[in-house]
Amino acid sequence: MFAARGTADFLYYYLEAGRTMRTYQPPPDKSITLRALLLGAIARGRTVIQNPLFCADTAAALACLRALGVELRVSKRSIAVQGRGLNGLTRPRRALNAGEAAAVARLLAGVLAGQSFPSEITGAASLRRRPMARVAAPLALMGADIKTRSGKLPLKFRPAALKGIVYPLPVASAQVKSAVLLAGLYAAGRTVVKERAPSRDHTERLLAHFGARLSRRGRAITLTPGPLAGARLSVPGDISAAAPFIAAALLSGRALLVKNAGLNPSRLGLLKALRKMGAAFRLTPRRGGPEPSGDLLVRPGRLKGAVITATEVPAMIDELPLLAVLAAAAEGRTVIRGAGELRHKESDRIKATLALLKVLGAPARYRGGTLEITGPAPFRGGTAAAFGDHRIAMAAAAAGVRTAAPLKINGRRCVKKSYPAFFADLKKVFPC
Ligand code: S3P
Repeated sequence: MFAARGTADFLYYYLEAGRTMRTYQPPPDKSITLRALLLGAIARGRTVIQNPLFCADTAAALACLRALGVELRVSKRSIAVQGRGLNGLTRPRRALNAGEAAAVARLLAGVLAGQSFPSEITGAASLRRRPMARVAAPLALMGADIKTRSGKLPLKFRPAALKGIVYPLPVASAQVKSAVLLAGLYAAGRTVVKERAPSRDHTERLLAHFGARLSRRGRAITLTPGPLAGARLSVPGDISAAAPFIAAALLSGRALLVKNAGLNPSRLGLLKALRKMGAAFRLTPRRGGPEPSGDLLVRPGRLKGAVITATEVPAMIDELPLLAVLAAAAEGRTVIRGAGELRHKESDRIKATLALLKVLGAPARYRGGTLEITGPAPFRGGTAAAFGDHRIAMAAAAAGVRTAAPLKINGRRCVKKSYPAFFADLKKVFPC
């Protein structure tokens, strides 16, 4: 799909670039690790997650699950979850703290809505600012007794009987989709979620892997309630964590081989956009497991501006700040439609991305959900702010491989949310 040039050409490239090509192994996927933990907790029997991610968000998930009575054995390369079955979780003694992890708060909401005990989810200050009505509304439609504080955390649950619903998603959000599907496990009757645009489908894949009855027709996913069975899985590398390295390779004109990356098509929007912009990739899939994975060869080349549609955005939602940085290096104008969701991430990513583009000297504007960037920019360097947002810190760091003067990033420690070793890895792969 992404092989813009012939196999022979790429083979030649491997040989030609072999001496200078860098190799990189991304950390395990965050979305998949979180889902595997959650599904393992409510499945019957034991789940073994090989190569799980360890970061602040997954630590928050482990703490929430332990507070719900789940036994977890954590070792360096795996986590064993002793599943309690759909109805075996126990009442937590205090509010569950999702830290800064919106995925933990929202997915857990789907599970807690169906429990026979009251519970509460809270989180760190940054998470308490993020919208929760988007999950509370469909869960209430299913019959959940759920309260928010003006549409935000804390979420409070009381026991209630759930029923299946047909729910057209008003926002293209994998987290909302997942919350409804997880609550559907506890509902009477089938639950149908209809997507506006394809978002990451890890919940669907893993539900099926854990034995759930789930089918997809077009953009509609149907779940029939029933028990889950513990499973084994190995988590592939996180393509969103690899994305700054892919960007850095393109920005510095170096070839990069990304090893064992998640290659789930619902996460490959950035590669698709970059192909439109003139970049070339070679994907070598591996076999086995519920999640597609494999190696990815990035071949540098000149980039030109492109138009990205709103339907394409969910498959690269976390990569948009990076795409904006790459657009700043490209010749001509890049238009990204349907970017409004960026306002609701760890920071207001529209504001943060525009600020970063300004430091790079790239003319950019945001209007009515559309972000426009004109390149090529001078990539001057200076000081960029992370806005407390790991994806912004990483996008700035990727830009830094190209800036004329060093690019200092204020507040860069926020990368611990998803990728504690990010700066150490970047230095190894792209020493300045
Ligand atoms: C995620 C879904 C996306 C993404 C987030 C992780 C997930 O959020 O931005 O980093 O694991 O489901 P939305 O579903 O709110 O778009």
